[in-house]
Amino acid sequence: MAETGQPVTMETIVSLCRRRGFVFPSSEIYGGLGSTYDYGHYGVLLKNNIRSLWFRTMVQERDDIVALDSAIILNPSVWEASGHVAGFTDPLVDCRTCKLRFRADQLEQASCGRKPSKRPGETPDCDLTEARQFNLMFETHVGALQEESSAAYLRPETAQGIFINFKNVAQLARRKPPFGIAQFGKAFRNEITPGNFLFRVREFELMEVEFFVPPADAPKWHEYWIEHRLSWHRGLGLRDENLRVREHDENERSHYSSATSDIEYLFPIGWGELEGVANRGDYDLTQHTEHSGTKLEWIDPDGNRYTPHVIEPAVSIERIFVALLCDAYHEEVVGDRERVVLRLHPQVAPVKAAILPLIPRDEGMAGRARALYEELRRHHVVEHDEGGQIGRRYRRQDEIGTPWAFTVDEQTLEDDTVTVRDRDSLAQERLPISGVRAWLDDALERD
Ligand code: GAP
Repeated sequence: MAETGQPVTMETIVSLCRRRGFVFPSSEIYGGLGSTYDYGHYGVLLKNNIRSLWFRTMVQERDDIVALDSAIILNPSVWEASGHVAGFTDPLVDCRTCKLRFRADQLEQASCGRKPSKRPGETPDCDLTEARQFNLMFETHVGALQEESSAAYLRPETAQGIFINFKNVAQLARRKPPFGIAQFGKAFRNEITPGNFLFRVREFELMEVEFFVPPADAPKWHEYWIEHRLSWHRGLGLRDENLRVREHDENERSHYSSATSDIEYLFPIGWGELEGVANRGDYDLTQHTEHSGTKLEWIDPDGNRYTPHVIEPAVSIERIFVALLCDAYHEEVVGDRERVVLRLHPQVAPVKAAILPLIPRDEGMAGRARALYEELRRHHVVEHDEGGQIGRRYRRQDEIGTPWAFTVDEQTLEDDTVTVRDRDSLAQERLPISGVRAWLDDALERD
């Protein structure tokens, strides 16, 4: 096996996702809708795995974090209090010549709509407007009347749903700081410059924890969460050399943050934010206390009151999705043939194993393969594939990252064994068919 040495580009990943049905441009038959995507079967499976591994680490395996699922459309006062109505903005300029819109703070990296493309403002023909603040929240209306009082927003983050439920959870969940509330769900942002596939989209799925701590302990917990999240991404299989931590400087921080560090990944477009770990201080609980009149504070057993500080690790499934595919994608030459293989960690791989009858029209092989498939599918996502040459079926599974294939062949009919083929090493060994289920359980636990 030899790597072809081709660099992984975003176009390569987009094309694989399209070819294998992970991701489609949304509303395609109507010409699409900029930077919005629909997920096909393998995309849904991959997203489910990312979400459930996150939930397992952040909630199920911890005593100090509980789950929440708040509404997407909240009382608009929430967004006044949180500062999003006034401050969740990007500076925007329009070009009257090429009619494109750019972020005023990213003109250096932008290219305009003319051919050959220029940096906006580079030529005398560029006619840029003054920068103006553009709010990224999507507005909607609640109820039948489109009057001012019914205006509301689609949430741009899940965090605020957590803060406004602080009192409910603190009272009922029998937790005391340090403790956290976890939430995943859709978030919506009217990004001015979306793009780079799923990296910056207008509708995405956030996974956030708001971790409430005594104020003096905030810096310590901030460090803890940066390390914890970095090691989680490594555990998903992302290579160490493609991960780094970068601290925001003061000008870069969001309106609520007193310190933020990004866990960055080396995407094909360069280093970019994978996950943010922010120290939000007491900003949010204080704001909601002032605006709602409900005291969001902690009272310890000796009657001391304080507003907890908040450490927030926040990441989207979409950024992890892209990072995993870029990291796992390999083109290599095996013998005289090229193959594309996704070396995904078995726990994130959409399909855990393929069950392949070598000669599908042989009734003995077909029957045994089908029975094995029926047994395994009750416990894991597995696939039964009987279409085409065995080599082509292996290649198909390699491209979607299936770690193992069990092949039912002539020998199976004699001794009830199957071969198991390893996606990465291509090694094959024989197993009793009755032991396949336990072998797969072990392999998934082991890796
Ligand atoms: N509650 C904090 C918050 O939302 P953020 O840095 O704006 O912080 C958190 O977003 C994470 O959400 C980012 O680290 C990134 O993983 C992801 N993210 C942000 N905007 C995104 C977009 N337009 N498309 C995909 N993912 C996005």
